[in-house]
Amino acid sequence: MENKKRIMSGMRPTGKLHLGHYLGVLKNWVNLQNEYDCYFSIADWHALTTKYNDTDLMKQNVRDVLLDWLCAGVDPEVSTIYLQSLVPQTASLHIYLSMITPQNWVERDPTLKDLAKIMKDKQENMSNLSYGLFGYPVLMTADILTFNAHLVPVGIDQVAHVELSRDIARRFNNIYKTDYFIEPQPKLTQVPLLKGLDGNKMGKSFNNDIKLADSAEITQKKIMSGITDRNRIRKDDKGNPNNCEVIYDYWKIFGNSEELACVCDGCQNATMGCAECKRKLAAKINEQLAPLREKRAELENDLDKVNDILHTGSKKAQIEAQKVLDGAVDVIKMYK
Ligand code: TRP
Ligand code: SF4
Repeated sequence: MENKKRIMSGMRPTGKLHLGHYLGVLKNWVNLQNEYDCYFSIADWHALTTKYNDTDLMKQNVRDVLLDWLCAGVDPEVSTIYLQSLVPQTASLHIYLSMITPQNWVERDPTLKDLAKIMKDKQENMSNLSYGLFGYPVLMTADILTFNAHLVPVGIDQVAHVELSRDIARRFNNIYKTDYFIEPQPKLTQVPLLKGLDGNKMGKSFNNDIKLADSAEITQKKIMSGITDRNRIRKDDKGNPNNCEVIYDYWKIFGNSEELACVCDGCQNATMGCAECKRKLAAKINEQLAPLREKRAELENDLDKVNDILHTGSKKAQIEAQKVLDGAVDVIKMYK
């Protein structure tokens, strides 16, 4: 355990996760968890930076994300799964880091600009950007440095934040003449990009996603609505999988080479209609999701256990976080 490199990553609890999150993030976490000492955070404070006045679903969202992680195979016996707000050491560290972070570093952060724009689009004006939202990347830095993590698996959209975390870690080390904090590095993994069923980016706000929590029936129904080759109108029109915007893309992700060859053949020779093709795809996806659904049903029947998992993980995280915080406080030469 001790000689393993450490990984830290997190997600804001904003609702149920979709298949894109599963393929793009969770499967990756699951693959990493044996090789690295992993800390995975449900970042509820980060959710609060934009949703501070919309908290009715907070508890449910935390639980939904947790269920999604667990049923996807993130293993609380192997990784440390915790709730950000249950590890107050991160808040302490955030204060110290906020002191040494130049304001213009935060202002430059492109992801923060995007977030600010979202707020603006919701009629909030830029100058209403809250102090907390402004501190978003510093809080994220605190998340990472709380565990002195080496690597941060994130999507491309979060890389700028991690770069800032490196800069802050380095600045801390320079200011206090130490090498206390490891400069964390983003860890990008090549993952297949899953489009939404309408051909746009998959996202819950576009209503084009398949949730991990969806039943087999709903999944099938959603697949049946997916975009195909728009030139193939009738069943006896010959199709072209390369022009099949969504469904064939999904096949490439969920099917094996034999199945792909079979789909291509049926499509190009018009021996298989799009409806049949989609039904087969839905069956394929449902087969792959069956174990996750089984696990979810089991967990949903024992929500006390689910709650325990989060509290146990958070306690474990606290212990490690306290060690790192104590060291930082010493380095800064605070009175103890
Ligand atoms: N900001 C990340 C996101 O929106 C979530 C997050 C919070 C995170 N803390 C983190 C990611 C620490 C990596 C490391 O996706
Ligand atoms: Fe797409 Fe399948 Fe229809 Fe061909 S048969 S256009 S691959 S949905």
